[in-house]
Amino acid sequence: MKFATKAIHAGQEPDPTTGAIMTPIYQTSTYVQESPGKHKGYAYARGKNPTRVALEKCIASLENAKHGLCFSSGMGASDAIIRLLRPGDEVIATDDLYGGSYRMFEKMFTPFGIKFRYVDMTNAASIAQHINEKTKMLWVETPTNPLMKIIDIAACAKIAKEKKIMLVVDNTFASPFLQNPLELGADIVMHSVTKYLGGHSDVIMGATCTNNDSIQEQLAFTLNACGANPGPMDCFFVLRGIKTLHIRMERHCYNGRVIAEFLKQHPKVDKVYWPGFPDHANHEIAKKQMKDFGGMISFTTKGNSMEEAFRVASAVKVFSLAESLGGVESLLGHPASMTHASIPKAEREKSGVVDSLLRLSVGIEDVDDLVADLKQALG
Ligand SMILES: Cc1ncc(COP(=O)(O)O)c(C=O)c1O
Repeated sequence: MKFATKAIHAGQEPDPTTGAIMTPIYQTSTYVQESPGKHKGYAYARGKNPTRVALEKCIASLENAKHGLCFSSGMGASDAIIRLLRPGDEVIATDDLYGGSYRMFEKMFTPFGIKFRYVDMTNAASIAQHINEKTKMLWVETPTNPLMKIIDIAACAKIAKEKKIMLVVDNTFASPFLQNPLELGADIVMHSVTKYLGGHSDVIMGATCTNNDSIQEQLAFTLNACGANPGPMDCFFVLRGIKTLHIRMERHCYNGRVIAEFLKQHPKVDKVYWPGFPDHANHEIAKKQMKDFGGMISFTTKGNSMEEAFRVASAVKVFSLAESLGGVESLLGHPASMTHASIPKAEREKSGVVDSLLRLSVGIEDVDDLVADLKQALG
């Protein structure tokens, strides 16, 4: 089946008892057993829930994956992935990383003896020099947050295969509509489902997808053992959200293009980060591995002042000043003080997250209203 059909149908069958076309919300904590151990495949809802199973199958199918698993948040999914490692292991992660991932790596796992190194992965060939015998995982985000750098997934997969280490791709920014990392050779894809998959800013959730049975088994064990499982109501909301993922993504991409081009010619704007520009450093790789360029854009203003960034952030009326991304409504964020505040100033500035940087999650409103809003806010 093609993407749009899978988005609407994958993992979902009419309810066998009533014929209900929508997967019921199995709001239950446990399941009655006929005799000890004799049940219908469901014993306790931390381990498995039918609404969640439908969603896991749906997300796996969008990533062309054999297995999917849903977690109570994107961080819950990432946490389970890092728990595949052991003390002494090392991870090489992209230097332009979601701040929450950096915080978890540094504050939660470094004290347990896992070492993280942050490197610029935009030239994939340079990654190999950082790999040693302790390296067990490459952690890639592409497009990166917030600078929209593009990392060549297939090239990373080649290195990971040669060195026999795992490649994890955080596919939150692209969504499975734009990019399927497993097909490019990744071992695990993770999503903050909270974003494009959910799409309506009403659910926190995470997911992993893999083709590897052993990885799936270990992740499912962690999910059940540690308990970062999402509730069935949230799974229902995401199943519903995904039904329009393809239509939403087309509009996000269209609006994103118009806004990126508007910002590029604005006299007060300095740099615009969007992988669709032919002069973007890795535009050719973006073209190769993504279907389109998405609705995430970052920009700086001339003079690089925090005050000016705060002024613009407070002046928008259709865009809302808020963390998060990927919903139908347009959001604007100030990474240095919001999503990336947990990264030390020197560290974040080294990777380009300067004081005037603003990040847009372009929604699916009428693009004329979005352009007019930015125009009045920039002044
Ligand atoms: C790229 C990326 N990865 C992971 C996460 C974490 O996901 P969640 O907020 O669902 O825990 C986020 C959240 O903003 C994100 O942007």
